[in-house]
Parts: sequence; C-alpha cells; structure tokens
Amino acid sequence: MTTLHIDSSISGENSASRAISRSIVDQLLVADPAAKIVARDLVSEPLPHLTFDAFADSSVLDEFLAADTVVIGAPMYNFTLSSQLKAWLDRILIAGKTFRYTEAGPEGLAGGKRVIVALARGGFYDAGSPAAALEHLESYLRGVFNFIGIEPEFVAADGLAVSPEQRENSLKQALGETVRLAA
Ligand SMILES: Cc1cc2nc3c(=O)[nH]c(=O)nc-3n(C[C@H](O)[C@H](O)[C@H](O)COP(=O)(O)O)c2cc1C
Repeated sequence: MTTLHIDSSISGENSASRAISRSIVDQLLVADPAAKIVARDLVSEPLPHLTFDAFADSSVLDEFLAADTVVIGAPMYNFTLSSQLKAWLDRILIAGKTFRYTEAGPEGLAGGKRVIVALARGGFYDAGSPAAALEHLESYLRGVFNFIGIEPEFVAADGLAVSPEQRENSLKQALGETVRLAA
C-alpha cells in the first residue's frame, strides 16, 4: 500500500496542519508498517502556476493515481486553500483521467482511494457562526474530491489564532482524532 503525504503550510515547524498530517501518517504506519510513504512538500518544492505546457508532465497526476491513501495538510489562508495546494490540485483535476463529463453529468474516475485532510484554521467556521459564509477550504476540498469520486475525511484544528489556550486545546483534540482515524 502506498500513502502520499502532501504538505502545503508556509509555517514550517510551527505548522498545525503539518503536525496533524504527520500524526495521521504515523498512525497509518502503525496500522500498516509495510506501507510505502511518498512525501511531497509543496512549499520546499513548489509547483509553478498552471500553464498549458505543464499538462505535458503527468508526474504529479501519476503519483496521485498510484497512491492508495492520500494525506493532505491544508492550512486556511485568506478563507481558502494555499496557492501551493491549488497548484497541486490543478495537476490532478484532469478531464479523462480523474473525472469525465457524460450525458448524465460529471463522473468521478478516481474512486477507491482514501483521502484524509488535516485542516488548520485560525478562526471558527461552524454552520451558523458569523464567518461560516467564508469557509472555502473544507467545502472546496470536499466538493473537489467528491467531483473525482472520493469522499474525503477531515481532521480539523480550529480557532488556532484565538488564544494560546485555544490553540493548544484544538491541536490536542485534532491529534487525538488521528489515532481513532487510523484505527
Ligand atoms: C497568510 C495567512 C492567512 C490566513 N488567513 C486566515 C483566514 O482567512 N482565516 C482563518 O481562520 N485563519 C487564517 N489564518 C490563520 C491560519 O489558518 C492558522 O495560522 C493555521 O494554523 C494555518 O495552518 P498552519 O499552522 O498549518 O500553517 C491565516 C494565516 C496566514 C499565515
């Protein structure tokens, strides 16, 4: 089994999404010590903005298609995903490869894969909260992965910018969830 581990936070060792994604991968390894881990750090090795020329290189798509499980560290920046992660998605959302349009509507072609997303957000975006309408990270990633035939799982640490106590509690709770997720 192959696990693809993607990170996209600019915060290095202080990153919450990196800590959570690392914990998810560690837990998956406990469950399957023989699993092969392929790591892609979209900050230390950024993908350029999409161009038509970029479609000639399918290495990012091939790496995604070859993975049984994909773990993604996804920080919220300006109410949505990092541009680094968007550049990665631009290379895997490919008509004819991960989805196709049919007369009955769009059809996902990448099903059968497990996708687990580690979300880190400075604020709170629960339904009914004042900023709920600005949540374009989890909702976007859910929509995109659903579109290609995958129901993603999420582990979220929220309110990280509210106070040091809130950050500590949210991180602790999210890291605890990673244990259950891989069980
Ligand atoms: C450039 C930047 C933009 C941010 N924008 C938002 C935002 O729109 N909403 C929010 O809730 N938090 C925002 N935050 C806070 C981050 O979501 C929070 O710091 C989170 O921990 C980021 O994940 P990371 O720790 O993995 O980098 C922002 C942080 C940075 C650095």
